[in-house]
Amino acid sequence: MSTILLIHGPNLNMLGERDKEHYGSLTLSDIETLVSSEAKKVGFEVGSFQSNHEGALIDFLQKESPNATGVIINPGALTHYSYALHDALVDTGIPAVEVHLSDINAREEWRRHSVTAPACIGVISGKKEKGYVEALALLISNLKPRT
Ligand code: DQA
Repeated sequence: MSTILLIHGPNLNMLGERDKEHYGSLTLSDIETLVSSEAKKVGFEVGSFQSNHEGALIDFLQKESPNATGVIINPGALTHYSYALHDALVDTGIPAVEVHLSDINAREEWRRHSVTAPACIGVISGKKEKGYVEALALLISNLKPRT
């Protein structure tokens, strides 16, 4: 079965407790379970990972992407400044979709800019957990057919 990597950056381990107005009340584990079950319906398995550390996210991408078919990533605040994460996403050579639970365009000015977006085939923002389901569909529609 093909694997999709589901990656979360800093502070997203606190979902369910953290700023529910912006991020909703689901926990990270709820979101991972939702994406896994949606992916399973269409024949994919999901490898989930969260870290508060930029380097750990890059290590995970480097280690796991050779055996994966695509990436769904919510980089948290790293979205706005991590060129290293951008480069790691490009270097995977597999498509990635960026997701944000909140609408990053409707908040503080500094959140509007994503440095990781250019490494992704799309950005879905402001749809809470539904954004992940949409990201999965977008990712799957962009996967190269197996040869
Ligand atoms: C976030 C938006 C980021 O600006 C923020 O730093 C996060 C979460 C979101 O899911 O809306 O940690 O990526």
